[in-house]
Amino acid sequence: MIQQTPPMGWNTWNTFGPEINEQLVKETADYIVSSGLAAAGYKYIIIDDGWSEPERDENDHLVPDRKKFPSGMKALADYIHSKGLKFGMYSCCGTMTCAGYPGSYDHEYLDAETFASWGVDYLKYDFCYHTGTLAGKYFYRRIGMALANCGRDILLAACSWGMEETQEWIKTTGAHTWRSTHDIQNSWASIKSITKQQVKMLPYNGHGCFNDMDMLIVGMGGNSFIDGSFGTNGCTLHDHKTHFSIWALFGSPLIIGCDIRKMPEEAKAILTNKEVIAINQDPALNQPYRVDLDRCPEDMLVYARLLEGGDFAVGVFNMSDADYRFVFGLDEIGITTNCGKKAVAKELWSGEEQPLRCDSFDLTVEPHGARLFRCKLVTK
Ligand code: GLA
Repeated sequence: MIQQTPPMGWNTWNTFGPEINEQLVKETADYIVSSGLAAAGYKYIIIDDGWSEPERDENDHLVPDRKKFPSGMKALADYIHSKGLKFGMYSCCGTMTCAGYPGSYDHEYLDAETFASWGVDYLKYDFCYHTGTLAGKYFYRRIGMALANCGRDILLAACSWGMEETQEWIKTTGAHTWRSTHDIQNSWASIKSITKQQVKMLPYNGHGCFNDMDMLIVGMGGNSFIDGSFGTNGCTLHDHKTHFSIWALFGSPLIIGCDIRKMPEEAKAILTNKEVIAINQDPALNQPYRVDLDRCPEDMLVYARLLEGGDFAVGVFNMSDADYRFVFGLDEIGITTNCGKKAVAKELWSGEEQPLRCDSFDLTVEPHGARLFRCKLVTK
């Protein structure tokens, strides 16, 4: 298997859109290593849409934009690999990519070979401009088959935004990740709506094909291509902490979308919280589940997840604009009153141990707030 746990990395799209070039990508690769982000697990450097010339060459090959990438993709891949990182690129199942560059429709095998020859390790594969006559699953089966036969291990990151019930067929295609939601924007409303969309998709996540909740907006501040909010504030770091906690607990790929060269220290601290990342990367890959389904209002979320070795994670998220007091027991997590054990919980942002009264949680969480606990069972 190419990737056992949700992939982690950086992608050009959220901040730069098609305004990309090899200097930006190399500087980001340098910084991802020197900043400690690579050591924290972020290893895929992914070039999104807008990297190619507007036309294929006379042999039908895709051609990197000569001004943006004058040294070509092989040289860039070599540079990225020399840093111990992996190289990701982007194409689309239609005749054009979403931004209007040549797509891979009817060129799947040729393009897979081209990507392999450049040293690509990851291919994000979008869903724009495909013909209406074929169902989506066939496009992804084509590229899945082409990549599996291209002579190189290339992770397939499907990006059909959950359309056509993607969850029902995506695991037939060999994809390693699939976009289970619409595009993220640089706002709290977007974090909230993607979280809601994702909840129904959680049973489909894990074990080699991960639900992709889209790229992270942590650290983007007002530098956003995705919603054109340049010069505005985007979300607060407080919102970002909740966003990162949910993406981590829900087992989404963690693909950074900000300009890491300029991100604030607080954003870096969020992105490199080792204990939060460990929950995302937990090797047991168990499904998170809702704990408080019947009791809590819609905007109040409590999710748990059984981890390797018997620990478990509990995430408490207040998605509303007012304080909320969460009170819940551990019976729904499978801990019975006569089991002879009690849970010890550490909150992973503050580092504090949560005092548990009678094995229950009782905590008030501020608006847009998150608490993420790693819990251990100890003998009473
Ligand atoms: C789609 C995808 C985005 C991004 C753009 C590029 O909207 O969902 O993540 O790749 O295309 O044009």
